[in-house]
Amino acid sequence: MSTKLQLVYSSGQIAASVGTLAQRIGYDYAGEELVLVVVLKGALFFAADLARQIGVPLRLEFIKLSSYKGTSSTGTVTVTKGLDGSIAGKHVLVVEDIVDTGLTLKFLLGYLNDLGVRSLKVCTLLDKSGRREVSITPDYVGIPCENKFLVGYGLDVDERYRELPAIYEYIP
Ligand code: XMP
Ligand code: MG
Repeated sequence: MSTKLQLVYSSGQIAASVGTLAQRIGYDYAGEELVLVVVLKGALFFAADLARQIGVPLRLEFIKLSSYKGTSSTGTVTVTKGLDGSIAGKHVLVVEDIVDTGLTLKFLLGYLNDLGVRSLKVCTLLDKSGRREVSITPDYVGIPCENKFLVGYGLDVDERYRELPAIYEYIP
């Protein structure tokens, strides 16, 4: 059987959601300086669109994580590309593409907290809250979604489909 991509969120829907998020974040951080910690590679396009609309002075930092999920549900996450600059004493907002089990985010929040941030919040474009294995609630959610495997707008299967402007369900 051949692979199918079925449209789930159009580029217009994504743009509307990103605009709303940017407005809320800009309002909440008005008068403050913000550091966005962008989780590579998936959040790349989301972060680029979001950052240009927030409207408060901000700095961009990038982090890359790799997660290994063995037979145990705990999952092991490691940092494969760390931050370049210091985030100590800063207001930090993590920018994620999608939160699924929450294991990656739980690790990341612990990691960033240990760096002495002033505040730490999370913004995710997509939230598969029904699949959560640890109790993590992102502060800003663009689109709550069902348990479908999604690709496009940064999301991939084996590095493919990231460049698509819309989000699709991947049906192998
Ligand atoms: P956890 O389970 O730790 O995982 O919350 C978060 C990471 O898993 C990846 N992920 C996906 N990637 N389509 C993707 O392309 C999906 O539907 C999907 N669900 C989870 C993603 O890297 C995310 O950061
Ligand atoms: Mg991710």
